[in-house]
Amino acid sequence: MTIPLKKSDPITVDVALGERSYDIVIGRGILPSLGERIAALRPGARVAVVTDACVATHWLQRAEASLTGAGLTTSRIVVDEGEVSKSYAGVEFVCEELIKARIERNDLVVALGGGVVGDLAGFAAAIVRRGVDFVQVPTSLLAQVDSSVGGKTGINSPQGKNLVGAFHQPILVVADTAVLDTLSPRQFRAGYAEVAKYGLIGDEAFFAWLEAHHADIVKGDAAREHAVATSCCAKAAIVARDERESGERALLNLGHTFGHALEAATGFCGRLYHGEGVSIGMVLAAELSAQLGMIAAADVSRIERHLAAAGLPTRLQDIAGFRQEGLADADALMTLMAQDKKVKRGRLTFILLKAIGQAVVSTDVEPSMVRDFLARKLADAPA
Ligand code: GLY
Repeated sequence: MTIPLKKSDPITVDVALGERSYDIVIGRGILPSLGERIAALRPGARVAVVTDACVATHWLQRAEASLTGAGLTTSRIVVDEGEVSKSYAGVEFVCEELIKARIERNDLVVALGGGVVGDLAGFAAAIVRRGVDFVQVPTSLLAQVDSSVGGKTGINSPQGKNLVGAFHQPILVVADTAVLDTLSPRQFRAGYAEVAKYGLIGDEAFFAWLEAHHADIVKGDAAREHAVATSCCAKAAIVARDERESGERALLNLGHTFGHALEAATGFCGRLYHGEGVSIGMVLAAELSAQLGMIAAADVSRIERHLAAAGLPTRLQDIAGFRQEGLADADALMTLMAQDKKVKRGRLTFILLKAIGQAVVSTDVEPSMVRDFLARKLADAPA
């Protein structure tokens, strides 16, 4: 990480992947530098900006002005907001528009948006003309600290989340922390769950810093850049060691096995945002770890206390209408978990905690034990 010379200088985090290495540039108010940064990497490239209708109203003109100001030719592809665009129809639309805009191998796709736009545009870039380069310009906290980094791209299948996709690394990530000012408080909090995750999986000191400073991150002062940069550093280091998730990268899925099942049970809708499912999932993972004798009960309480203090849901009953659909049914949740990408030969992968800052990957948790654990949690939850 390059330490800024003064507070207003951007922070640069390197994702070290040999000839596919790239920078994550993090700073307040850096969107206007996008064109200059891209022109330095790909002078004269044609640029197609993929964004959604909501992000377009806030940031598209500013992004385009920066690109054209740097002498780049631009076109725009605007998709519907939300998970609905991460579909076969969505990727077909983006690919056809890219081909129509004559985006060729030396040209560029810019993903301007949150996780949905990044995953969708990145996947289209991975497959159009067998692969064109792309740049991530993440506009949600979740995308800035997680989904824009590491090259996971894809869409949902009707049978599950992110089941169709490709690894395709961006050539640059530009994370302007000022764009997070327009997020709703709920969206911001949902992204914060992924920030807390980095403390839980490998950095107890960062978790303690978050306990003291989470309100400053929301306010948007230098604590926000520090939190985004620390998260990106942690992710970049893991991705550099295990790009294709053959081992350590799975740690980044702490809370996701439970969380994805909860998202699926609520129909991937506004009732439960991804980060909210991850927050509940991380508490469940901590409780399961305690049941296995791995983590102290005091640490589990500390985790739940912090996530709740940050305004995140931590319990199954925090989900609106949680007694409806498959949510209050341990067997239905087990069935949803069985569709997880991390299932190998029928074994679920869980990320468990030995302590705050010490996560481990486990493939030997007995499904019957998880089922009984969930059944007990559901029985304990007030109706
Ligand atoms: N979001 C988890 C990963 O990128 O591996």
